[in-house]
Amino acid sequence: MLVSAKEMLNKAKAGHYAVGQFNINNLEWTKAILLAAEETRSPVILGVSEGAGKYMTGYKTVVGMVNGMLEGLNISVPVALHLDHGSYEGCNACIEAGFSSVMFDGSHYPIEENIEKTKELVQVTRGKGMSIEAEVGSIGGEEDGVIGKGECADPEECKAVADLGVTMLAAGIGNIHGKYPENWEGLSFETLDAIQKLTGDMPLVLHGGTGIPDDMIKKAITLGVAKINVNTECQIAFAEATRGYIEAGKDREGKGFDPRKLLAPGTDAIKDMVITKIKLFGSEGKA
Ligand code: G3H
Ligand code: ZN
Repeated sequence: MLVSAKEMLNKAKAGHYAVGQFNINNLEWTKAILLAAEETRSPVILGVSEGAGKYMTGYKTVVGMVNGMLEGLNISVPVALHLDHGSYEGCNACIEAGFSSVMFDGSHYPIEENIEKTKELVQVTRGKGMSIEAEVGSIGGEEDGVIGKGECADPEECKAVADLGVTMLAAGIGNIHGKYPENWEGLSFETLDAIQKLTGDMPLVLHGGTGIPDDMIKKAITLGVAKINVNTECQIAFAEATRGYIEAGKDREGKGFDPRKLLAPGTDAIKDMVITKIKLFGSEGKA
């Protein structure tokens, strides 16, 4: 059964580790992530962008696929199904479809409007056993059509949004979606520290997990980060393994066109990547 991300993230914050959110695109992605979480006995969050939701033919298909797989794979660790960088309409659609968690990304609105819309969605999720993530400041780069300027969040604004009753809070601290440029200045730990001091027990979310050096990840966790989102790194692992398999001519062995064989190396590569991240984030054995 899908669960809200609330309990797993509150435990992570108190226990000084982080739970990974890994984005899904299809059956293989979902299976790889669920198997990785089960094998390491880690809670996990499956992230779905609005683009990926459309690709999978709608949120109801996603809910059906994930629920079926939890049963089919005998998954016993806590799993949340979460809308990633959702619009106001997208959040309502996912709440209706049976997601257990949503992110309202109001970071491109003026703060007053972000607060107003976040507040409304907190009310909609209330009583439904769901978790809700909000964003302040912005994450740089682009993810599935969502473009951010990369502004560091104002800690006072973070407090105002945290006080609305959200479950977890994403704040821009110099993090970027996709690969980091050579001249990246690193995460702003000063901003993160100021945010955690004002927001107390609120689990903080680090987006753009791909390519952040391990020591920065560990430091961010000591400063209140309890959820870390990774997407691009799984895509790169899948693409490289699939390309390697085809370039080595392995797809021509046997029948040569079996889709399940073609997709297996990429699926295994995603699973390995997720296990590596779970170990790094410290959530192994915390289910
Ligand atoms: O919302 C998802 C993430 O922030 C993923 O970022 O693709 O840089 O790992 P990433
Ligand atoms: Zn993100």
